[in-house]
Amino acid sequence: MPELSPIDKAKFAAAKRAAQYVESGMRVGLGTGSTAAWLVRCLGEKVRDEGLRITGVPTSTRTAQLAREVGIDVVSLDEAKWLDLTIDGADEFDGNLNLIKGGGGAHLQEKIVATASDQMIVIADASKQVETLGAFPLPLEVIPFGWQTTKTLVEETLVGLDVMGRSTTLRMNGEAPFVTDEGNHILDLHLHRIGNARQLSLVLNQIPGVVENGLFIDICDVVVIGHGDGRVELRDINQGAVEETKFDFLETDNLFTDIAD
Ligand code: A5P
Repeated sequence: MPELSPIDKAKFAAAKRAAQYVESGMRVGLGTGSTAAWLVRCLGEKVRDEGLRITGVPTSTRTAQLAREVGIDVVSLDEAKWLDLTIDGADEFDGNLNLIKGGGGAHLQEKIVATASDQMIVIADASKQVETLGAFPLPLEVIPFGWQTTKTLVEETLVGLDVMGRSTTLRMNGEAPFVTDEGNHILDLHLHRIGNARQLSLVLNQIPGVVENGLFIDICDVVVIGHGDGRVELRDINQGAVEETKFDFLETDNLFTDIAD
């Protein structure tokens, strides 16, 4: 089996450290994306080899499928009602642990699940860390009805806001518009730099046709940053703590190489 690439090692290291937060009996929100897939695999391994007993609430059909495949008990958010912890990836995070999410189109369920959790932990490689949010296009979930009108309204609204770019594009899946798990479309907002993320989030969500934006403000508690050499940095917004550990991949470098995501 080929050795993991540095980026996969970084994601795996972050996921492995975050998995240490999970204890038997917990209800855990399971994020979506390539980094979250590592986490789901790590938890599946603990369920299988260490007798960990958890209930998982997935944030997408993709994650639900993977969680079942690795042996995690899966329930809906309505069944779980409230979660101890959610662990998810991010497209960007800043120094205040505010995030852009939705690169995979799952930010609506991800935000609902993270908000219904006592704690949210983000796992990411170091490339996701930014000074100011906005280089990554901000995903905006919109209902299909009248989406072009919504798009125009969004662009007009952006004129009065502290952002550097104002173009928006409809996310595509080949020739057709991308469709989310909730049957909606995604507009990607090419803002380049977001001056006031809190204000932007509130204003965007007031536009008719907009379901939810990908800004996560004051939701994330901890970021676990993985590096290609197995180092992991941990930032806890509540405790102000910074921790650094290192994982040795010699014993684990063949694990999970079947992850396609
Ligand atoms: C899914 O919609 C997103 O919010 C993901 O969490 C985000 O795009 C990170 O994905 P990767 O871990 O694949 O970079």
